[in-house]
Amino acid sequence: MQFILFIAIFFSLGFNALAMPVVAPNRLQGRSFKVERVKRNDHVAHGPTALRKAYRKFGIDTTTLNGVDVSDFQPFETQHPAPKSAQAAAGKSDQTGVVDATSVDGDVEFVSPVNIGGQTLDMNFDSGSADMWVLSSRLPKSLRSNREVYDPSESSTFEDLKDSTFRIAYGDSSYASGGVGKDAVSIGGVKVTEQTFGLPTDISQTFADDTKSNGLLGLGFSSINTIKPESQKTFFDNVADSLDEPVFTVRLLSNGVGEYEFGTIDKTKYSGTLVNVSVDSSNGFWEFSSAQYAIGGGAFHTITQAPSAIADTGTSLMMVSPEVAEAYYQQVDGAIFANNANGYIFPCTSSLPTLSVAIGSAYSATIPGSLMNWSEVGTNTTTGETVCYGGVQSSGSSTMAIYGDVFLKALFVVFDQRGPSLGFASPA
Ligand SMILES: *[C@@H]1O[C@H](CO)[C@@H](O)[C@H](O)[C@H]1NC(C)=O
Ligand SMILES: *[C@@H]1O[C@H](CO)[C@@H](O)[C@H](O)[C@H]1NC(C)=O
Ligand SMILES: *[C@@H]1O[C@H](CO)[C@@H](O)[C@H](O)[C@H]1NC(C)=O
Repeated sequence: MQFILFIAIFFSLGFNALAMPVVAPNRLQGRSFKVERVKRNDHVAHGPTALRKAYRKFGIDTTTLNGVDVSDFQPFETQHPAPKSAQAAAGKSDQTGVVDATSVDGDVEFVSPVNIGGQTLDMNFDSGSADMWVLSSRLPKSLRSNREVYDPSESSTFEDLKDSTFRIAYGDSSYASGGVGKDAVSIGGVKVTEQTFGLPTDISQTFADDTKSNGLLGLGFSSINTIKPESQKTFFDNVADSLDEPVFTVRLLSNGVGEYEFGTIDKTKYSGTLVNVSVDSSNGFWEFSSAQYAIGGGAFHTITQAPSAIADTGTSLMMVSPEVAEAYYQQVDGAIFANNANGYIFPCTSSLPTLSVAIGSAYSATIPGSLMNWSEVGTNTTTGETVCYGGVQSSGSSTMAIYGDVFLKALFVVFDQRGPSLGFASPA
């Protein structure tokens, strides 16, 4: 949970700048709203699925990962808990501007209720992409059995964008594509009257099988929106000008409750300094420099393969440069990289050190060992020991690290359009 300052050469200069009070402009028309994310603790999370999903999303080539096939590894079955319905979660919240969200499959993804033209659907908020798309009645029946979908013909405010199409591909095996329309979209009571989004007519089996989420709400930069011929703005970009401050903040608690807040930086949610780091949005992501790491309070080392990182709410795990993952698990007794577990695993009784990563050039964030223990994943048939799956895993061939929920859970994070920049602090 600690957010630790490490002394850099420009310490005093940097600190003075960061220590200035944040003065919120007092705009009369401003508004802000919250969206809560609530995790369920009643099931086993499935780490390998989470990692495979992330590799697909970023098109990461996993053949570069040199693991071993472990013959004495017996994986557990994946469990699929029933999701809380969007209607139940959203019902009470329309009045107050607060909505609940539910995690599914042990935080493999989080879903939050989104109201589209009066219909409420569970969607996954994703700061690592910039498309909004929702499963609808335009999808062939075979790809939407046993699930709620958006029905544009039931909405009087829906409008087709006739010649527009979208196609989003996450690596080679997972995609959604189809037509485009617009409708009123509201989240936590804040409405964008004409939000453009995709209505897929084709999705990969992976999305068809994911019955917990009815689509994605991208919170990345609109530059990577895939709508053609004219790309469209994200919900956040559309709403930002009318917010008190053009920000959304993310606070995920390791006990499972979390929330998104749009339009304000709530000072009661963090303690100490809010570190402001500049974002390179040229790839469309909330990407920042993170070029050093330290394990268990040891010395800092330079990160070579993936020295920048993106803050990605849509990825469950913390995916770091391969050399960082390797160095980390060298400090964990009995840890191995197992191909057939799709990642690093270790005996559940091993102790896990902290992992610190640089945030820009003057600060670092320290992720506690407890967050690095993603879940029990199987048994060692030689020893009978339970084997656990790492919350930190290799980002493979990627040249950027992907700091997902495992990282975000240790922090209070501000996604700020000014700059653009990211703010990080210890949660209160
Ligand atoms: C199982 O335990 C043996 C003996 O400690 C070890 O060599 C092997 O790597 C372990 N396998 C797994 C999957 O952890
Ligand atoms: C990791 O989590 C599992 C439960 O998911 C627990 O049984 C185990 O003791 C934990 N191990 C460590 C090192 O925290
Ligand atoms: C962070 O820095 C940017 C400039 O890079 C500035 O516009 C923004 O207001 C800062 N955010 C906070 C919360 O201080």
